[in-house]
Amino acid sequence: MDFPKGFIWGSATAAHQVEGNNTNNDIWLLEHVEHSMFKEPSLDACDHFHRYPEDIKLLADLGFNSYRFSIEWARVEPEEGHFSAAAIDHYRRMLMACHSHGIKPFVTFHHFSSPQWLIKAGGWESDDTPALFARYCGRLAADLGDLIAGGCTINEANIGRVLISSGVLPPMDLIRTSPGWVEASDQLGISADDFNPFMFAVSEQGQRVVMAAHHQAVEAIRATGATFPVGVTLAVQDIVAVKGGEAIAAQHQLEVNEQYLTDLVGDDFVGVQCYTRHRYDANGAMPTEEGVELTQMGYEFWPEALESSIRQAHACSGLPVLVTENGLSTTDDSRRIAFVERALQGVKNCLKDGVPVMGYTYWSLLDNYEWMLGYRPTFGLIAVDRATQQRTVKDSAVWLGNIARSNRLG
Ligand code: BGC
Repeated sequence: MDFPKGFIWGSATAAHQVEGNNTNNDIWLLEHVEHSMFKEPSLDACDHFHRYPEDIKLLADLGFNSYRFSIEWARVEPEEGHFSAAAIDHYRRMLMACHSHGIKPFVTFHHFSSPQWLIKAGGWESDDTPALFARYCGRLAADLGDLIAGGCTINEANIGRVLISSGVLPPMDLIRTSPGWVEASDQLGISADDFNPFMFAVSEQGQRVVMAAHHQAVEAIRATGATFPVGVTLAVQDIVAVKGGEAIAAQHQLEVNEQYLTDLVGDDFVGVQCYTRHRYDANGAMPTEEGVELTQMGYEFWPEALESSIRQAHACSGLPVLVTENGLSTTDDSRRIAFVERALQGVKNCLKDGVPVMGYTYWSLLDNYEWMLGYRPTFGLIAVDRATQQRTVKDSAVWLGNIARSNRLG
């Protein structure tokens, strides 16, 4: 076997991107304002809220042994302090569906979207948020912990830093004065300066709140007696210094990767999420290199980035690594196979050198709602016809499922 016994082979989704009709969270609000920065609203998404039995069965039939999905806080706690037993039951049924197919469920407690009431109360810049998040996580661990195989508190705790400092989003002062932002704040009855969704938590305070929320959540989960491993996931950037860019690259590396990776003492693992490399020269972030193939996202097709990110995550944190996301958006499924094959070669190299890699999770199980970019980018192993909700398994899904089943590459 090329991979250790018990290696986790999974695929992932996030509630807001697949469930449909998550009307009570901040992203839905941002999608629906007149001057939205989101290309289109999520609406029914993949109707995974109702169709999870079929989707989990497909995943299992393909040969995978794990499913990483997120629980929607705004469903479970629709009003502050009021937990919905019906919503928690729904997620219990999802967890049971995983077990009945021999699938280990990895649960993400927060994947970008937050309840509107939390945002009204100051969101991810408020010192009250870590305790509120920890209470919600503790409740889930108490009610569902017996069925959870692994827990990710927060998805990509560093995403705000990554999006802003890599220039994907404009600086926050511009965002805060943009019409869609102002409209969303008005609807919540708060000022544009007090509107603080998770993805935009880029200030020092925002970063402190996010990491405090993670640490308090780990404590709250463990306090229930739950024994599943728990960690956070990070968008670990493969930062490459090109001649003259060493100092800028080192600074960026510190800001987006190291200061998070060194703040995980006591966690059971670190979730690594990686999609491409990022080059820096003396002028800062460089454009994509001429001649290098681009993905639908405009990223360089650079699967070797995963190996660097895994090595770095382990070296900085000292923790075992679970690849919680890796993949690409393309309309040419053969390029997906080529990408994952090279990425897995990198995982094998890490394992050979003794880096503890627990598993590999492909993003994503389904073609789904890619946040501000809407439904155009297709990351999925399974295509979804959103008019009929019909699923079509792609060749890459069969290919990766066979690798999962044999625990062997090639
Ligand atoms: C996020 C996913 C997203 C994916 C592809 C990650 O940053 O966790 O929600 O769809 O990247 O862009």
